[in-house]
Amino acid sequence: MATVAKSSHSNVASIAMAAAAGAAAAATLGFTAQAESTMDVLKGISGQLSSIEEAVVFAPALAKIGSIKKSHPGNLAVKDFDFDYFASLSSADKKALLAIVNSGVQNADSGMGCYAMNPTDYDKFEPFFGAVISDYHGVPRSQHHVTDWKLDGVAGLPADGKLDVTKLGLPPVSMRVRVGRNLADFPLPGAMNKDDRVAMEAKMQIAFVELKKKYGGRYHSLTPGNPDFITDDEYKALVKAHVMFKDMAADTYLSDAGIASDWPFGRGCYQSEDKGFIIWVGEEDHLRIMCMEPKGSLINGVFERLKTALDTVESIEGLKFAHSEKYGYVTSCPTNLGTGMRASVLMKIPKLCKGGSDANAKKVCKPLGLGVRGMGGEHTAIGADGTCDISPTARFCISEAEIVTALYTGIKNLKAAEDSA
Ligand code: ARG
Repeated sequence: MATVAKSSHSNVASIAMAAAAGAAAAATLGFTAQAESTMDVLKGISGQLSSIEEAVVFAPALAKIGSIKKSHPGNLAVKDFDFDYFASLSSADKKALLAIVNSGVQNADSGMGCYAMNPTDYDKFEPFFGAVISDYHGVPRSQHHVTDWKLDGVAGLPADGKLDVTKLGLPPVSMRVRVGRNLADFPLPGAMNKDDRVAMEAKMQIAFVELKKKYGGRYHSLTPGNPDFITDDEYKALVKAHVMFKDMAADTYLSDAGIASDWPFGRGCYQSEDKGFIIWVGEEDHLRIMCMEPKGSLINGVFERLKTALDTVESIEGLKFAHSEKYGYVTSCPTNLGTGMRASVLMKIPKLCKGGSDANAKKVCKPLGLGVRGMGGEHTAIGADGTCDISPTARFCISEAEIVTALYTGIKNLKAAEDSA
């Protein structure tokens, strides 16, 4: 469908350009009357091509959106797709908006159902994204996101400022804080072509030279011919160690958004010498920057390390993160918008996971503002011993400091729920 859309659009554009050029040339030669009639003919053809595009490309997509609106009211991108707004757009913007919602149109069971394709999309398609974001994050449309990493004064922070899980009666746990970031100078992963992916990775490799000076370690590339290329066995070992990400082709939400395309080009991962700081390149966002601790007690530790690492990345010449004055840090998926941050711990809640299902745990976690994932990440199974990945779900119009404090308060409440289950 995308190919049809692309070629018919460029045909329309080139015919219109040819018409203009032809008219200008004819006018210079004095054949004005003839030129006008040529122009009329060409305009007619151009108009006909536009209606073919409407009929062949747009109408079937709009019909499908209409039917998903009824069958899957939880698909937010489809729910908030306004036909009048769509009709008001130029042909190129209509195509762009349909590309943004394609994942949700192909996967009717989506909860969000859309991915931004360019760093400027959130602001450009504000009438659409504003509705979806407000619906998902439960924030009024007029509210602007504010970045703030300062813990002082955050509600729920213990008096000594320490988010120490052992004080809650938990053993040291595996903890991780990540942020999604995208470079302002490239299309977002859904709209990148192979050359963009390889160029973005190459740009990051210049930055990794700087990071290696401070944090040691190395970059691992999956791009054939890359100087940091690793073998398939090395890649598999890194996936097993939860350092590298998997091929995303199996995730139909991501593949229908174009995000999984051109695998393994432009994909890789930087890991610091102490293995506590990792940057994924070419996953759902250009960059996923994370700090982890396999057996930690203080959440402050990973949080502060991430802030320092991020400051180092941001200070590297030529790297500009995509950012919106209203929406904060730009991510492919609107669920991550704002902070792009997910702070999580692996926590054992066997009583709430009795029978091997996380359904009950999810029911208990939802009102606590927490999400439950399996040990291998999104859409993976929980551990046989009831180990779950627990994280606050809020990312937008909340500060970074509030997210880690919400994780601490959340696990305190979840522990109480587990103990009394
Ligand atoms: N696109 C999927 C949906 O709409 C997943 C959204 C959240 N997950 C993510 N990895 N961005 O349900």
